Amino acid sequence: MKVSSAEFVKSAFNEAQWPGGGVPEVAFLGRSNVGKSSLINSLLGVKGLARTSSTPGRTQALNFFSINGRFRFVDLPGYGYARVPEAIRRSWGEIVTGYLAKRGDLVLSIHVVDSRHDPTKLDVQLHEWLIAHARPHLIVATKADKLSRNELRRHVGRIAETLSAPAGQVSEVVAYSAPTGLGRERVWRAITAALAVSQAPF
Ligand code: GTP
Ligand code: MG
Repeated sequence: MKVSSAEFVKSAFNEAQWPGGGVPEVAFLGRSNVGKSSLINSLLGVKGLARTSSTPGRTQALNFFSINGRFRFVDLPGYGYARVPEAIRRSWGEIVTGYLAKRGDLVLSIHVVDSRHDPTKLDVQLHEWLIAHARPHLIVATKADKLSRNELRRHVGRIAETLSAPAGQVSEVVAYSAPTGLGRERVWRAITAALAVSQAPF
């Protein structure tokens, strides 16, 4: 995919603020601080378009980006940051599952996990939710540059087992590194395929 333009559209704090429909969207989901915004910037080859943070758990907004004027990336708020009050944590769940459940234009959910760690209980819940709602998804294990090649292979295998697909199939897990670009082609292939299924040529 050649990215000829990538623009921030808006931050939405509630459904009324979501941009108009009819444009296919790819959502990025995962734990707080896992690297969702860095993945977006790395895929687009633009530094600082999606805001990366050293203070996790701050934003509850959905951030929409328009790519090539044809489709959108949606950076969803991260979950599981321990120091966030329970009430805010609950509203996050509602914001995220509300978007996932209602957004007809969603063609692919990219579930971002940390390649160094086992998926958390919330990761498993999100994964089961995506499968139960038959939402096409891809698991991306990021920060791969922080592991040796052997460790990475072992960890990715464990993540695939924990977040397994229905009927005992093993889920596809793409190892990714924002600084090195490892996995970039594979993720773009999955995005391009999801867009092709959704609509006319891209
Ligand atoms: P929230 O929006 O707070 O939920 O975080 P996020 O999931 O968007 O994570 P973000 O992209 O802000 O990255 C968090 C931290 O991890 C930053 O310090 C990034 O530089 C770092 N990071 C993200 N991806 C990678 C990666 O592939 N490799 C390395 N080494 N660091 C990464
Ligand atoms: Mg972010």
